[in-house]
Amino acid sequence: MSDSLLKVENLCAGIEEKEILKGVSIEVNPGEVHVIMGPNGAGKSTLGNLIMGNPNYKVNSGKVFFEGNDITDEPTDKRAKRGIFMSFQNPLEIAGLTLSDFVRTATEAVGEKKVKFFDFKKELAKEMEVLNMDGEYAKRDLNVGFSGGEKKKAEILQLLMLSPKLAILDETDSGLDIDAVRTVSAGVEEYRKNTNGALIIITHNMNILSSLKVDKVHVLMDGKIVKSGDETLLAAINESGYGIFEKEER
Ligand SMILES: Nc1ncnc2c1ncn2[C@@H]1O[C@H](COP(=O)(O)OP(=O)(O)OP(=O)(O)O)[C@@H](O)[C@H]1O
Ligand SMILES: [Mg+2]
Repeated sequence: MSDSLLKVENLCAGIEEKEILKGVSIEVNPGEVHVIMGPNGAGKSTLGNLIMGNPNYKVNSGKVFFEGNDITDEPTDKRAKRGIFMSFQNPLEIAGLTLSDFVRTATEAVGEKKVKFFDFKKELAKEMEVLNMDGEYAKRDLNVGFSGGEKKKAEILQLLMLSPKLAILDETDSGLDIDAVRTVSAGVEEYRKNTNGALIIITHNMNILSSLKVDKVHVLMDGKIVKSGDETLLAAINESGYGIFEKEER
């Protein structure tokens, strides 16, 4: 068996009545940074959700392996315990649960052990400082009334507190002002520094990538990866759009 961290093998999947991914393969080694780009509706978020095990999506054929284990049929909580994390394009709002309590519960669930309250508070305060977040946010209900940018920062806070082996960031940089993009990038760098975790970044925007060394770029169009390459692909996309890959696909 290979020693890759994540291996998606010829995945065909979607929702009940519709196939969205039509044979996607991708292999991520420990510590690597992969970028997935592609037009709206191509299936990027769907791929992230399938790696995370979102039960709304159905696998028709193909497999997903994590550290050599077949996780295709595993529920989300088990995958989280294995060290997979996903930051959502549209994070949930939960009234009655504070950000702090949510992160603590998640940390304990994933680590399968109790975390001392004092240690947790200290760590949370430290990471909130990295993200330029006012400590008061920890006491607010999860995402309720948070601005778009604040929600994205709350997602990166979870990433820093959970230290997963693989983090999937789904448009964590969209809708952020220029300073917030820098802050989120700093958070991602901190994650890399602390754990050397791998990343799959789904984005339409090159800004968040400027401070990261990108190992591989994949272009997803209409449920298929039509091109994979190194970071020079980013410049080609920036210059010419996705039209150039449509021609290659035919
Ligand atoms: N739960 C769902 N129910 C119905 N259709 C869905 C569902 N999830 C995804 N789709 C459809 O599957 C296709 C791919 O969606 P997906 O969200 O993966 O695209 P995306 O590449 O992330 O696009 P964007 O760049 O706009 O975020 C779209 O046509 C979308 O409408
Ligand atoms: Mg999406």
